[in-house]
Amino acid sequence: IDAQGRRVFDLRAQTGGRDLGQGGQTRTWGYNGDYLGPTLRAKRGEKVLVNVVNGLDRPTSVHWHGMHLPAVMDGGPHQMVRPGATWSPHWTVDQPAATLWYHPHPHGETEQHVYRGLAGMFILDDEPSAALALPRRYGVDDIPVIVQDRRFDSDGQFDDGRSLLGGVGILGDTLLVNGTVGPYLDVSTERVRLRLLNGSNARSYDFGFADGRGFALIGTDGGLLASPHQTGRIRLSPGERAEIVVTMRPAERVVLRSYPPNAGVDFFSSRFSGGDDSFDVLELRAAGELAPTPEVPARLVPIDRLDPATAATTRRFQLSDRKINGRAMDPGRIDFAVTRDTTEIWEIAKQDGTPHNLHVHDVQFQVLSVDGREPPPELRGWKDTVLVTANRPIRIIARFADYADPNIPYMFHCHLLYHEDQGMMGQFVVV
Ligand code: C2O
Ligand code: CU
Ligand code: CU
Repeated sequence: IDAQGRRVFDLRAQTGGRDLGQGGQTRTWGYNGDYLGPTLRAKRGEKVLVNVVNGLDRPTSVHWHGMHLPAVMDGGPHQMVRPGATWSPHWTVDQPAATLWYHPHPHGETEQHVYRGLAGMFILDDEPSAALALPRRYGVDDIPVIVQDRRFDSDGQFDDGRSLLGGVGILGDTLLVNGTVGPYLDVSTERVRLRLLNGSNARSYDFGFADGRGFALIGTDGGLLASPHQTGRIRLSPGERAEIVVTMRPAERVVLRSYPPNAGVDFFSSRFSGGDDSFDVLELRAAGELAPTPEVPARLVPIDRLDPATAATTRRFQLSDRKINGRAMDPGRIDFAVTRDTTEIWEIAKQDGTPHNLHVHDVQFQVLSVDGREPPPELRGWKDTVLVTANRPIRIIARFADYADPNIPYMFHCHLLYHEDQGMMGQFVVV
């Protein structure tokens, strides 16, 4: 905490090497270490300041994915940090408890910077969530699970070649969880909360347990759900998060797997975009005796529904051909201006055979409908990234509160990082 009462974090992007089971060191990038970065954590109402040092030999940036903050602090392509320079964004955390993350956002190079290892989790806390009987001991029964796929070349280095067929960018055949190959977790409590982050460049996952047990989905991108959703599967496209609570019995082992995700594309495209693949993600190994944990509460946090009748405007976005509405990202072009403190409906559609999702900076949105129907339970909480399925338009609603800046834009884009780099991204200002 500094003299102005701000919680201060230091992040240094740097190169390193790590033994990833390839018979030597794999060259990696990380924040403050060799791969990924520290979990940052702050409470609603707190002022935070991050000193971002670029220890790389090329410009990068750090974006706070899911964070509501002024555009100039957002860490997108307009807030690049030169090699050797320090960038110190600061803001006041004012949003519900959630599992957010941070990663580079240099235009045209995000895919590479993230692939080499630059990313980390940013957990937010608040009073309503702290009052709930949920597992919350970090590293004990509250576990970050950053899932990434990587491929290695014959020298044991990250292979960043893209498959020509799928059109999604880099797909790996080896899963890393928190930068570890073949991970397991020793569980000492009856219930464990997993904060799942799909930190992969292009791959979607459909998480579930190998023995078919269900779990409670308690949160999505921007916070806890109104009530837990009992389910056996949760699908996450790149950038999305889910918080789940799983119940364990003494001495048992169970594997969290990823099943072939329905990424919303046809059979052929699915195969080449990872849609047929299964992985073991993380083995949970329960101790012989487990500390008792209360049941997941039946009510979590109230979520005020944004009222579509209050929307100032409806915008339509068509994702196809690595463009949005036929236009590729141009850092010099602002696509539209949103009026501060208004609510907007965005209708997102796609027709091409490639998986896409849409991520919006600055806000957490609510899904109003999927193909004209009520959204499923996993899309009824706060979201900042959503998978878009061919011919099933999604309507979302968001309120653009607090911050305005006529000159500095926020981004909206497909979070398949290759698509984002290729220009499937646009810019809006809030005025
Ligand atoms: Cu996770 Cu614009 O990014
Ligand atoms: Cu973002
Ligand atoms: Cu895409």
